[in-house]
Amino acid sequence: MDNVKRTPIVILNFKTYLESTGNNALKLAMASEIVAEETGVNIIIAPQSPDIYKLSNEVKIPVFAQHVDAVDAGGHTGSSLIECIKEAGAVGCLVNHSEKRMKLADMDAVVKKAAEISMVSVICTNNIETSAAASTLKPDFVAIEPPELIGSGIPVSKAEPEIVEGTVDIIHGINPKISVLCGAGISTGDDMRAAMDLGAEGVLLASGIIMAKDPKEALLNLVSKI
Ligand code: G3P
Repeated sequence: MDNVKRTPIVILNFKTYLESTGNNALKLAMASEIVAEETGVNIIIAPQSPDIYKLSNEVKIPVFAQHVDAVDAGGHTGSSLIECIKEAGAVGCLVNHSEKRMKLADMDAVVKKAAEISMVSVICTNNIETSAAASTLKPDFVAIEPPELIGSGIPVSKAEPEIVEGTVDIIHGINPKISVLCGAGISTGDDMRAAMDLGAEGVLLASGIIMAKDPKEALLNLVSKI
């Protein structure tokens, strides 16, 4: 688990782009693995749940789920059970997202269950206040992502540096063991460098890599200034 949490860290959220679905997900996973091996950077991929089993069997880099539901084993048709995600090969999961909002109590349940079964948890938040609340739940990571910048190509680390710095300050005041990541509009090495200069220990990103003409080159560029 410590190796999975190694920073600097890049978490590539595959979301539901066709470019990162099914066979395209596999190609992207393999490109990510090559970049991780060539550069030594901890690159984690978060594909859609049906792709977790295949990808985790094909690549050695860590695979996370994009979401799990706050349910215990039993009668919950259509839900995603964390034990199932783990058995499929995931070693961690994103918890909450501006595109998949969860109640605080449900985030708490998922973070606790993840810790119990030795999975890494990353709570995604939308502002400094929710980041503070999230950190009291003791996840491994909090990733601050202002929703208005998600998918915009405008990097949070340059457009709203005060949100990244403010999140780092408030979270480390509450629990210095939690690593802070940032995301939204990140795509280049300069964006990632700026994030780290603000105190973030890595980035959570999607479109800047997934929609790039050459995702492998884009990833190499992303980690070039660490
Ligand atoms: O979870 C990653 C995220 O929401 C940022 O998306 O496309 O702006 O990198 P993107």
